[in-house]
Amino acid sequence: MDEIKTSVYNCTVIELPQVESRSGNITPVTCNKEIPFNIKRVYYLYDVPGGETRGGHAHRNLHQLIVAASGSFDVVLDDGKIRRTVSLNRPNYGLYVVPGIWRELINFSSGSVLLVLASMSYDECDYIRDYSIFSKLKNGDTHNS
Ligand code: TYD
Repeated sequence: MDEIKTSVYNCTVIELPQVESRSGNITPVTCNKEIPFNIKRVYYLYDVPGGETRGGHAHRNLHQLIVAASGSFDVVLDDGKIRRTVSLNRPNYGLYVVPGIWRELINFSSGSVLLVLASMSYDECDYIRDYSIFSKLKNGDTHNS
């Protein structure tokens, strides 16, 4: 399974195009142009109460682009060995998250909107929600995965 080998350094911040005008800006995202996958699903997270955290899981096969469409938040990435925190606060930057990365979403600003472009439909079987299983999968012990 490819997700076993992925590292937090495979997750990159992508600068997206910004079509600027006096009356506002537009950011277009085109499959296999700005992002290296086809978009099957779009969802957005909003109304996150102050101090709340989200995420706390990894995906087996899902590729995602996470964008702070409004406001700001931090994404803590973890590949079982290395942790890396990426702050998102501009709608024309997206964090590309490859499969096999544990993520926590923290420090949401008031009124923030987290937009996700995802490569697959929602599938609970694609989630790894237990960190000890994730850690074993990433570090070579696949008996409990
Ligand atoms: P989850 O991905 O665990 O949210 P987060 O990472 O933000 O904490 O999803 C939370 C719930 O929402 C989960 O029980 C299933 C539901 N859900 C859908 O029905 N469809 C979706 O596309 C997503 C992302 C979640």
